Parts: sequence; C-alpha cells; structure tokens
Amino acid sequence: MCGIIGYVGGRNAVPVLLDGLQRLEYRGYDSAGLAVAGKEGIGVCRVTGRVAALREKTRDGTAMPGRTGIGHTRWATHGPPMLANAHPHRSGDGRFAVVHNGIIENYQELRQELTAAGCRFESETDTEVVAHLLGLAYRGDLPRAVREVTARLRGSYALGILCADEPGKLLAVRQASPLILGIGAGENFLASDPAAVAAFTREVIFLEDGEMAELTADSVRVFNRAGQPVAKKTDTVSWDIRAAEKGGCAHFMLKEILEQPLALKAALSPRLRDGEIMLDGLDLELSGIDRILITACGSAYYAGCAGRYAIEGLCRIPARVELASELRYGDPLIDGRTLLIVLSQSGETADTIAAVEVCHRRGAKVLAIVNVVGSTIARMADHVLYTWAGPEVAVATTKGYTTQLAVLYLFALYAGRSRGTIGEGAYRDYLAALEALPGQLEQALGMNPGIGRIVKEYARAESVFYIGRNTDYAAALEGALKLKEVSYIHAEAYAAGELKHGTIALIREGQPVVALCGGPAAEKTRGNILEVKARGARVLAVTEAEDEKTIQLADEVLLLPETLPLFRPAVQAVPLQLFAYHAARERGCDIDKPRNLAKSVTVE
Ligand code: AGP
Repeated sequence: MCGIIGYVGGRNAVPVLLDGLQRLEYRGYDSAGLAVAGKEGIGVCRVTGRVAALREKTRDGTAMPGRTGIGHTRWATHGPPMLANAHPHRSGDGRFAVVHNGIIENYQELRQELTAAGCRFESETDTEVVAHLLGLAYRGDLPRAVREVTARLRGSYALGILCADEPGKLLAVRQASPLILGIGAGENFLASDPAAVAAFTREVIFLEDGEMAELTADSVRVFNRAGQPVAKKTDTVSWDIRAAEKGGCAHFMLKEILEQPLALKAALSPRLRDGEIMLDGLDLELSGIDRILITACGSAYYAGCAGRYAIEGLCRIPARVELASELRYGDPLIDGRTLLIVLSQSGETADTIAAVEVCHRRGAKVLAIVNVVGSTIARMADHVLYTWAGPEVAVATTKGYTTQLAVLYLFALYAGRSRGTIGEGAYRDYLAALEALPGQLEQALGMNPGIGRIVKEYARAESVFYIGRNTDYAAALEGALKLKEVSYIHAEAYAAGELKHGTIALIREGQPVVALCGGPAAEKTRGNILEVKARGARVLAVTEAEDEKTIQLADEVLLLPETLPLFRPAVQAVPLQLFAYHAARERGCDIDKPRNLAKSVTVE
C-alpha cells in the first residue's frame, strides 16, 4: 500500500508535496519520490527510505522549482524497495510521470507487449507499464490517452499523472484504491487521504471507482469512464490538522492511546441521549435477520471477536467472526437474512473490501463500522456507523480498536432493546456501563507510569503468552498482536483452558505469561495461572482490584477499573497497549512505523 499526492497552483510544488508525503508515510515508507513539471520538461527526484531523505535531496524544494507536481511514498509490492523501483515512473520519451497506489494485475502481459514494442523498462514494478502505455497512447489529447490506457488495466489503481506537454495540469484516476481531490483557492490537490492536504484545504471530493479528474490551478473537472462530465459534491473534512500532530507525545501511538477517553466520548456521547440510544438514523430492520457475521482483519478482527460476545449476549442473534482474508475465498452460507458487520479503521483494507463484495453478492445486508469518513468500505455498505476516533496515524491501532468496541457494544445494546431480548433493568445497567467507559479508560491510563517500570522486566523476553477465557481471550488476542507489531517480541494469545492440550509444553522457567482474569470464568483462569506457575512461569495478571485471589497468585498485577464482563475488553486494551508501547521503547523500536507494516493494507 502506498501514498500518492499531487499539486497544481501558485506555490512552489515540492514543499507542498513533501509536507503531504510526510503525512502519508504511515501508508508505507520503503522509498519516496516526486516529479515536477517545469520549463525544461519533467524533473524527477527519488530516494530509498523516508521522505526526510527526499526533503534533503531536493533541499526542501529549492532545488526543484515548478508549480505542478506529483509525489509518492512506497510500501513495496512488486519489486524490492530499491531506487529503480521508487515512484514516479516515466514513459520512455520522458513525457509522462506517474505515481500509483494499488496493483495492476495484468501488468506482466502488458510488460511483454510493451517490451516487444521497443519499450525499455527500468524497474520491476507494475506501475511502469502505465507510464509506457501513456507514452504510446498520447497524441495531444491527455484525458483521451488516459482513458485509453486505463481501459486496458485490470486491478486496483489510484494514479497521479503529469504530462510535460501540459505542465499546468494534473490527471487523477481512481479504481479500487482511495483517491481524493483537495479543492483550494487558485490551487488544487490529489491525495490518497484527506490528511495529506489538510494543512492547505479541508474541502475535498471523494472520487469513485472509474472516475478521472483533470486538475489545473483554477479548475477541477471530473469524468466517468466514458469521458462524460460528472457532477461531484465537495465534503468538508472536520479533522483539525493539529489533531494529526503528536501533541507533545514522543510517538503518535502514545498520543492515540492517551486520546482514547476522548475518542470513546466522541463515539458514544452523540448517540446517548436521555437514556436512549440514537444510532445516526440507522434504518436497519433486524426482524428479518437470523444470523450475524462479523468480518475484518488484524485488530479490527479481534474487536469483532470481543464484540461478538456482546452481540450474542444482548440481542440473542447467533453471531460468528471470520477473517476477511478467509471469508473472501470461502463459500459462506449467507443470504438476505444475514447481517454482515464489517469493521475497519481505514475503510480501505483490500481483504475486507473483497469480503464485503462476496457477502453483498450473496444478499447480506452490510453494516460498516469504520473510522475514515467517505472511505471505500463506508461507501460500499448499506449502513455506516462511524467510530469518530479522529485521524489515527500510528500503524498500530489503539483508539481505532477501542472505538470499534464501543460502537459494537452500542449496536448490541440498541439491537437487544429493539428486539426485546433484554429487560428494562438490564438495559439501564448496560447503558450506565457504556456511559462509564470513557472515564474508566481515563482511570486505566493512570497505570502508564507503573507499566513503564514493570515492562523493563519483560522487554528482553523472547516470547510472551497471553491467556484468558471468553472475552478475556478475545482481549488477549489483541494484546498479543500489539506486543508483536511494535516491539517485535513473539507473543501468542491462548485460550486458557486449552493450554493443557499441548501448548503448556512450551512453559519453562521464567516464561512470561500475561493472564487476563475476570468475570464468570475467573476461578477457572486462576487454575490455569497455577498450572503455568507450577512450571516456572512468571505471571503478570490483568485483573480487577476486587479480585484478591488472583492478585495473590500473580507475580505482578495490573489493576483495572471494574466494568461489566461483556465490556471488559475495552478497558483491558489500555494496559495491554501501554505494555506493548513501553516494551517497544525499551527495545528502541520504530514505534509509529514498525518494520514491514503499513497503516492500511490496500493490497492482498
Ligand atoms: C493493527 O494494529 C494493525 N495495524 C492491523 O492489524 C490492522 O488492524 C488491520 O490491517 C486492519 O486495518 P483496518 O482496521 O484499517 O481495516
């Protein structure tokens, strides 16, 4: 997955492109590059590694004057992260420069055809075929050439295109990869994400699949695949650009962990009024639903694993959770009586998008719970509940995960109330527990300094086990992923009751085990704590202050504010996030941009 940006207007383009690329680095950072249309044609500058290197090489833009340009930051899909594979890619005659996010699935056959036609390839990328095709198709009509070329492409692409013959113009094309247009005064932009241009404008147009846009300093024209003009509405992005800064924290991940009480308030408060739940006018008829399927990837999938308990517990509809990357190639028993709940922070995860398409085709009704407004998944779904977490920049999600949980709990309670599967008293209790969640997360953040101290004992571990039962097991899954993805310590979440069926063989002297212990299964989990301690494990228990028995068993404890068992994963998330964060700091890891990862995986 990559980030693209383009600018045309009265400013020197390169500083604008560099600022935007810096905000897009969360999408990938193997290499970066930009192209500017100047009097002598198109100038290109590319680096391996971060945007900072590009800033240095272009001397912050002073070395590359020009008022129209495109930029790219890469997460390698085709070809290793080396200079020759860095975008922009050029046509053989140098007339075109192209930046691309996505995958051209038929690029091999196109490459063979172009090579036979005499084109010389400099890279191993799929993107370069687009540049050469444009060079061959262009006869003076730029939109026509772009339409001709994109008609031959299969796969996903968000393209930014620059043509030396028309230096005051940018072309943007969207197919299955996110692409927005930023609308300014005497200047216009294209970008993978509104945050990239939020420092210059909050007026954005979300392009749909198949649409192409022609941008000049003073005009933006959008066309459909057939070349007919399309009228588009302009949205105003409400995110304050300062919200995408670090706010004084050492890392975006810590900032976003600390923001969670506010993020949950943003997700819950507008929907809780005078004891009633108002779900943004959701007109979802549940009476015809006899099963719920939850699908997502990564942490969003683990949010689904935790939220499932609340859905079955409160609205008594059978619910199961399936990885989107599995569901998309499965043969799911889905029909018009199935509600698909799709979870995604970015709303652009390729596997999740594909899973939604499979379920939609089989008649499922689709409810999306996403964070990014206007994202692909939000626009595919029949119903959308935004998590309102604000921009999440750190690759490892935190507030994106806990706000997904909050909205799942809200939906489960709303559905239980509307189906009459929970009584008035229980409804009031759950509603109170929901309203208390932001404050409980605030309380849990109080553990931050203590966790920083405890972690020093664990940061050198080769592996850590996370164990729990029911919702504690679901929370353990997310806790293990957090540790792995930011500290690179191997971690495994395990259903506590399953350990004795084999995996306990791995427990040896000093093996760190994080035991999530609470709720109705606490006594059984305490039995599992004894089992692993008997084999030399060092146990860090995550439990509630009232649970004296567990506290006595553990070597260290992290004490949670008490909430209802169904909602506990939202509170447990905070100490587990902090544990992972501090372990990563201890190990000197690149916390906001962990190796090999990207914030939103928009490729398979
Ligand atoms: C979470 O910390 C990871 N960055 C990753 O697992 C992520 O949750 C997953 O890729 C899904 O992303 P999405 O929520 O944007 O769809």
